[in-house]
Amino acid sequence: MTENTFYTDHWRQIDDERVGRYERMFVWREGHAALLAPLELRPGSRVLDYGCGPGFMTEGMARIVGPAGRAYGVDLNAGFVANASHRNSESDNISFHLVDGDCIPLDDTTVDRLLCKNVLEYVPDVQTTLAEFRRVLEPGGRLLLIDSDWGFVAVEPWGMERTKRFFDAAAPAFKEPEIGRKLRSHLLDAGFDHVDVRVQAGVDIEGGSLLVLRNMANRCPPPRSTRCLTKRQRPLTTTAICSAYRNSWRRASGLRADVGDEPRPVYPRLRVPWQDRPRVIQSL
Ligand SMILES: C[S@@+](CC[C@H](N)C(=O)[O-])C[C@H]1O[C@@H](n2cnc3c(N)ncnc32)[C@H](O)[C@@H]1O
Repeated sequence: MTENTFYTDHWRQIDDERVGRYERMFVWREGHAALLAPLELRPGSRVLDYGCGPGFMTEGMARIVGPAGRAYGVDLNAGFVANASHRNSESDNISFHLVDGDCIPLDDTTVDRLLCKNVLEYVPDVQTTLAEFRRVLEPGGRLLLIDSDWGFVAVEPWGMERTKRFFDAAAPAFKEPEIGRKLRSHLLDAGFDHVDVRVQAGVDIEGGSLLVLRNMANRCPPPRSTRCLTKRQRPLTTTAICSAYRNSWRRASGLRADVGDEPRPVYPRLRVPWQDRPRVIQSL
């Protein structure tokens, strides 16, 4: 791995433990159908899921488009593509393909719908990728880009300054961590029309986002490639997480003191030890 390609190298080479974490993070959820509504998928649609990861979203879309339609998953990680292909080897309306470089391995106008969720923050050149999207989409097709803007995330109890330092330290894992605010301009520059933008704000009070923060901390470049980080930033990714644990733990202990010796969860629906969770993660 080298410094300037870390944002893409860390997706090409994923250790088994991280693959397991992604398989838990990227499962198909009830809310996904609503997230996909702007795509207007219907039976018979041909849809590409670009940067499909483990492929659960691709599978969900294959169910929606049915046997008359088709879903294609494309990713640069060979393990994701192999596992998803194996899992779906009996299905006729879904296939997975490895992308290497900028070219999508599909013919021109293959699809009439294209989803790209949480991927453009990692591509080497957004305009090149969007040009490929235009090529594989038939004229009049629909493209749905969903991406984060890590500059709008607040983590409590860290506060804004520490949160910013955390994301600065994690920045080499992204090509463009603030892609969200730039999507509209990129689409217009690439020649797409009827561009609509929606901002989705959310508050995580159950701490599920800790998985994402942990992944980011783990994804910080290994020692040899940390030269791109300042001396001050380097240790922060881990200390910030630890400090969140500590703060939460302190509060948990305080609460226990209030209620006697019985441990009592603060959030009624917690499924993992709650000291592993930050109190509030808010993203805009
Ligand atoms: C954050 S995951 C999102 C997975 C999936 N789209 C989802 O939202 O559940 C990012 C995915 O993009 C893939 N990826 C990263 N850079 C890519 C590139 N240049 N071309 C295609 N896929 C890429 C990674 O391998 C990974 O599977």
